[in-house]
Amino acid sequence: MCGIIGYIGNKLAVPYLLKGLHDLEYRGYDSAGIAVLADNEIEVRKTEGRLSALEKLMDKKPTKNATIGIGHTRWATHGKADSLNAHPHLSENKRFAVVHNGIIENHASLQKMLEREGYHFIGQTDTQIIPTLLERNYNGDVINAISDTIKMLDGSFALAILFVGDTENIYCTCRSSPLIVGISKGSGHIASDETALVRVASQSVRLGKDEIAKVSRDGVSFFDENGKPVKKAFKKIERSTLDIQKNGYEHFMLKEIYEQPKAIKDTIRPLIENGKLRIGEYFRESGMDTGSINRICITACGSAYHTGLVGKHVIERLAKVPVECDIASEFRYRQPLLDENTLVIVISQSGETADSLAALRLAKDKKAKTLSVVNVPSSAIAEESDCVLYTRAGPEIAVATTKAYSAQLSVLYLLAVHFAFEKKTEKKEELDALLGHIINLPGLVEKTLKKTAEICKEYSKIFIGSEHAYFIGRSLDYASACEAALKIKEISYIHCEAYAAGELKHGTISLIEKDTVVVAHACCKSILKKTLSNVMEVIARGAKVILIACESDREILSEFDNCIFVPDTSEYLLPSLEAVVSQLLSYYTAKGLGNDIDKPRNLAKSVTVE
Ligand code: M6R
Repeated sequence: MCGIIGYIGNKLAVPYLLKGLHDLEYRGYDSAGIAVLADNEIEVRKTEGRLSALEKLMDKKPTKNATIGIGHTRWATHGKADSLNAHPHLSENKRFAVVHNGIIENHASLQKMLEREGYHFIGQTDTQIIPTLLERNYNGDVINAISDTIKMLDGSFALAILFVGDTENIYCTCRSSPLIVGISKGSGHIASDETALVRVASQSVRLGKDEIAKVSRDGVSFFDENGKPVKKAFKKIERSTLDIQKNGYEHFMLKEIYEQPKAIKDTIRPLIENGKLRIGEYFRESGMDTGSINRICITACGSAYHTGLVGKHVIERLAKVPVECDIASEFRYRQPLLDENTLVIVISQSGETADSLAALRLAKDKKAKTLSVVNVPSSAIAEESDCVLYTRAGPEIAVATTKAYSAQLSVLYLLAVHFAFEKKTEKKEELDALLGHIINLPGLVEKTLKKTAEICKEYSKIFIGSEHAYFIGRSLDYASACEAALKIKEISYIHCEAYAAGELKHGTISLIEKDTVVVAHACCKSILKKTLSNVMEVIARGAKVILIACESDREILSEFDNCIFVPDTSEYLLPSLEAVVSQLLSYYTAKGLGNDIDKPRNLAKSVTVE
């Protein structure tokens, strides 16, 4: 949520900053800005809208040549998304420039205090108090000013700071919002996400809570929250995170949809060796004794939460362990009952989602065992969990998740099989057979892509012109319906709701009228007849139904129009194939509507504020 970039080196800063902001734009894109330091002056250029608007402004009104600067791409939390509220923000004396990710929760009281002291504010952001506090707290030493300032702040922040009196350093600090410092020969870099560093830096280090870094051309000095020097070790930047091109696809989302077979294959490969699951080794290596686990809580946000819904079904059914699944923003405040026999599983693509991270920290405070399923290795959730199982989907750029979701599902299936083996709740042969199906999943996803892409393109037209759509299903199909509804609404802006099919008649069916679009997920054979009764109920009220079902049920479904058939496999794994169909329907609907598919309105890729 919001992207931060910083550069100090021997080359012109602006091209580095703009390139970095391009790499980060998926994190927020309602306004953008840069500040550079030259001739004892900070020059700021900022504007509302996309980065392209900033680039136009820079063409019209270039800054002086500078080799030090910071930049920001914003997802507005406080104050309108206009150029006044865009970052960087300057202190009143124009000696400090700040870009900020996160939310300062006590900004209002601090602003009042500063106003009483005679300072003035013109914007509405929570950020504008920070440069002013730095100005107020500066007493000849920037590190002390930063240390004194962050002690006054409540909330979350990642900050990059320029100071007029120091052309040799950029400063940065963070709390509960990621910030990475990178180095290369003759240059220092700051970014809120490693993807913006891979091309420019060779080594990186993640800043810890309230740590401060002073980044120069020749190295970095680190300090704790009191300004005392600390040592931090850099690690080599993984070049694999470089692959962030569209490779001929019109959108990242489409590219990522087609990357799913590989994402699943790469994810499950390290977890299975010679047909045997290795998840136990991962637990052992992390020092976790899973024998005492008698309850599992899965927590996550958005699509990752839907992965959790699938995981709950599959783990409970196979391993007979009670599983709760909570939205992380609810979990963290509902005072969940956790102890050392509870395993809390946090699922997150970015590994940065504020509520998921807070849920993880709460679980740790309550002494629960923690496992995360994360796609970004250097992320806070990965670093803070007792054990991590990585999804290896590669960088996911489109805001609507596709390949990371599929990779998460595959990890949850494997976890369910692992616990079933460990607890001996299913016959070995059955679990071996299921493992075989999971190993074959990439091929089935590939087949689903081939067989359903055209028909999804065709049926996406059904959504165009509709204001509402309902997604129904039972059991695992209900979890798939939840993900499908989210997928369509986030990029098509059509109001979509998912309902447990049996729940419709308890109120919602009153909304079904002639031509209301209903997507029925009817893949689970164990409950198919019940789902079909609900489908008949909506058809009787005039709904236009799209039915997603298994190939082997083609005959018995011959009376239904608009069917999309997925290949047959174990019922547990069908959510992976239904997801492909939902993604394609969603993609082609948004395309038909002419929407900005990769960067839908009001959204950002990683949600680092609560
Ligand atoms: O990075 P995370 O997996 O923690 O993100 C969670 C959600 O914000 C994310 O899944 C979101 O719902 C997706 N944009 C949906 O496509």
